Amino acid sequence: MSLIKLQEKKFAVFGNPINHSQSPRIHQLFSYHTGIMQDYKAICVPVEKILDVIFDFFINYGQGANITLPFKEKIITCCNTLTKRAEISGSVNTLKKLKKNNLLGDNTDGIGIVNDLQRLNFIKIHDKILLIGAGGAAKGIIEPLLSLKCSIFITNRTMSKAENIVERFSYIGNISSIDANELKNKSFNLIINATSSGINNLYPDLPHVMINPYTNCYDMSYQSTITPFLAWCKSKGAINIANGIGMLVSQAAYSFLLWHGVLPSINKVINILQLEKN
Ligand code: ATR
Repeated sequence: MSLIKLQEKKFAVFGNPINHSQSPRIHQLFSYHTGIMQDYKAICVPVEKILDVIFDFFINYGQGANITLPFKEKIITCCNTLTKRAEISGSVNTLKKLKKNNLLGDNTDGIGIVNDLQRLNFIKIHDKILLIGAGGAAKGIIEPLLSLKCSIFITNRTMSKAENIVERFSYIGNISSIDANELKNKSFNLIINATSSGINNLYPDLPHVMINPYTNCYDMSYQSTITPFLAWCKSKGAINIANGIGMLVSQAAYSFLLWHGVLPSINKVINILQLEKN
């Protein structure tokens, strides 16, 4: 394939909000390291327009896309085929154009977070995990965590959504819902924030006594300064805290693999982003 043709390939991440997305920079670094050219942009979409915008993008020039908050569940309706992991999770973060304008939906969030938790030494088999949040972000990571034989306790501001998730995933492993006021006497190896509360500079309203110096605290969201959730964990005694930048790089790398057949170096790109931040 000629270079000109490669340069024509368009990729994008769609979300709302999207202004501080690191995905274009991450994909630029992947291109640099692998030599595979791709034009990758961040596109903010009005919430009610997402399906039209996606349809337009792929009919015209799009080859692949990442989908982020708040569209990961809604986007399933425009997929002709789903990978097994997207089907199990019920949410999609990666789209790939197939022949005849058909769209494949995948979810690389699960493999992304597991890779990152292992890189950080934040997880081992049989860990007890508190998962906060019950939207598309939470659904995308449950199956791989259960596959590590971890027990998941899921809590959410709207408990009925957490209960629906338990019903959906309990055939895979040990998952139960837990109300905020039952958390006081519990302790966990790992607490994961999968809510979108950080966007509004908030953190979930939960009792803090479950946090101690041995609790690993992970926020799936990221920002250039400490996230509100991690600042709260730290103020309550947590020592091991990490935001989702490593997960973001890792899930992006597996999207790149789906689109181009090459897995870029994840650690190299995480190191570069960390250097750029300082
Ligand atoms: P995503 O696809 O990123 O998961 P989502 O489906 O809109 O986005 O889900 C957002 C999640 O963040 C939900 O679990 C939501 O709780 P509700 O189900 O009660 O709405 C949670 N969330 C958002 N803001 C929150 C806040 N300030 N405190 C606690 N939870 C919050």
